[in-house]
Amino acid sequence: MKLGRLTLIGLMASAMLFASQGEPKANAKKAKKGNGEIAQVVKTGNEASQLLLKTLGGQLKQHMKKGGPADALNFCAMNAADLTAKVDKDLGKNVSIKRITLKPRNPANAAEGDEKEVLEALETLNKNHVRLPRHLVQKTKDGYKYYKPLKIGKKVCLKCHGVNIDPKLEATIAKNYPTDKATGYKMGDLRGAIVVTIKK
Ligand code: HEC
Repeated sequence: MKLGRLTLIGLMASAMLFASQGEPKANAKKAKKGNGEIAQVVKTGNEASQLLLKTLGGQLKQHMKKGGPADALNFCAMNAADLTAKVDKDLGKNVSIKRITLKPRNPANAAEGDEKEVLEALETLNKNHVRLPRHLVQKTKDGYKYYKPLKIGKKVCLKCHGVNIDPKLEATIAKNYPTDKATGYKMGDLRGAIVVTIKK
């Protein structure tokens, strides 16, 4: 087939037109796929963090009721890390969960690297009375990180994380956590976050 010069230009022009029409559609499709992916990350993050909060919070409540803060503290000291590890294991291979903070009681919960920067940013917002989002999603090399900010939202938190802690309790804290930094909080302060790491 012989194509005249004009026909060629015409073909090229319509191909370009087609391409330029096709591109936004492809981008929209990509964006839609991205949104679906993020919605899934949020769903996984919500479910995992609720499970951890229910597990730890439920036990804390029970022990506060049964034996007061000292009992609850001993229970947490013995079991919080194990309970978190169990929830983490139950979530499967591609999802993991942990608690992070800038002022750790248990040094294993210290925020590291860019997690620290995320918490610092949240703390700045919180100090400036900006309402914190219920969750944040961070893109990582091989997936996503979901953050759920944790505030000192109940008076009971202050018994073990506030100012003027009962001296006996303070001694138990010091015994179990010699490097404890998790006191001096007031109601509404940012305490840390739950981080759910999701690998693709
Ligand atoms: C009975 C005492 C007690 C009470 C009440 C308590 N905590 Fe804690 N908290 C602890 C102990 C002990 C740890 C360390 C647990 C561990 O070894 O992982 C801890 C750890 C944490 C951590 C993980 C970071 C870190 O510093 O290790 C967060 C977040 C936290 N507490 C938030 C809260 C919030 C929010 C409340 C109120 C709903 C609360 N706590 C109530 C004793 C308590």
